[in-house]
Amino acid sequence: LSGPVLPLLVEEADARGVLPPRRADSHKGTYGHVLGVAGSRGKSGAAALLARAALRAGAGLVSVATRAEVLDAVMAHAPEIMGIPLEASGPLGLADLEPLLAAAEGKDALVIGPGIPRGPETGKLIGELLARVDADVVLDADALNAVATDLSILRQAKRQVVLTPHPGEMARLTGLSTKEVQARRLEVAREFAMAHGVTLVLKGTRTLTVSAEGDIYINPTGNPGMATGGTGDVLSGICGAFLAQKVPVHEAIWAAVYVHGLAGDLAARRSGQVGLIASELLQGLCDVWLRWD
Ligand code: APR
Ligand code: MG
Repeated sequence: LSGPVLPLLVEEADARGVLPPRRADSHKGTYGHVLGVAGSRGKSGAAALLARAALRAGAGLVSVATRAEVLDAVMAHAPEIMGIPLEASGPLGLADLEPLLAAAEGKDALVIGPGIPRGPETGKLIGELLARVDADVVLDADALNAVATDLSILRQAKRQVVLTPHPGEMARLTGLSTKEVQARRLEVAREFAMAHGVTLVLKGTRTLTVSAEGDIYINPTGNPGMATGGTGDVLSGICGAFLAQKVPVHEAIWAAVYVHGLAGDLAARRSGQVGLIASELLQGLCDVWLRWD
């Protein structure tokens, strides 16, 4: 943490070059398989948004592992995905470890958190998954709140870990108040990323992406129309899709943040910032790809 660091402002030309081009002789295996661990009764939409965003961000295959009772609800919104029912009940815990390890076999990226049922064992479960799964992992939403109680599990990860907190979640991760996080966004994000060896996305106006080495990327896209439930779930899916397409991790993540914001800016042209809802970011993603064609 010694010496000044120069934050980089991400530009459209940088983000545009990050995804590999779709080659004529490619197939769905070329573009990676994302596993989302998401959703619960009353929050099945979070899993659907994550999964659809991963598909719209180019993943070749997307699977979702969720409580059996909500799997049909998730799949009704995303017929393209594969569903993995988690047969235990209640909050996610160690009873879900074996089925999740099996589900993670052969996956290129995991996204854990949106809408999950969190309980006392959820952090331990995530720690076991991080240590044993051979794929990069994105932690969002209640997965962040679950690991906040024991951050040492982050260092034990087999592959790279990405955290995508909003300022309230960042406050829980650090023990600071949300106000303190917001007053020192850059320093707080950088200290955390370097201390725990993770890529950290601190969301909000001008979202920051910080690599485990302490490099800082400032995002210029996005608008206050995106302050609406579910837009964070969409971001987690885009992150998973870019990682699954084998983009190097910090590049994948600052580019995912840029694309998510641009999708929101293009969607707001149709719906207005007031009218914008999270599922419209999915069409916004298509508008990004058409703009870059
Ligand atoms: N400018 C630019 N981007 C914004 C703005 C803004 N003014 N407001 C929000 N965004 C972006 C953020 O940068 C982030 O990418 O919208 C996304 C919001 O993500 P989250 O805060 O994670 O919101 P989400 O998870 O979709 O919904 C709220 O968070 O606190 C939990 O339990 C709560 O379920 C609720 C959920
Ligand atoms: Mg969120």
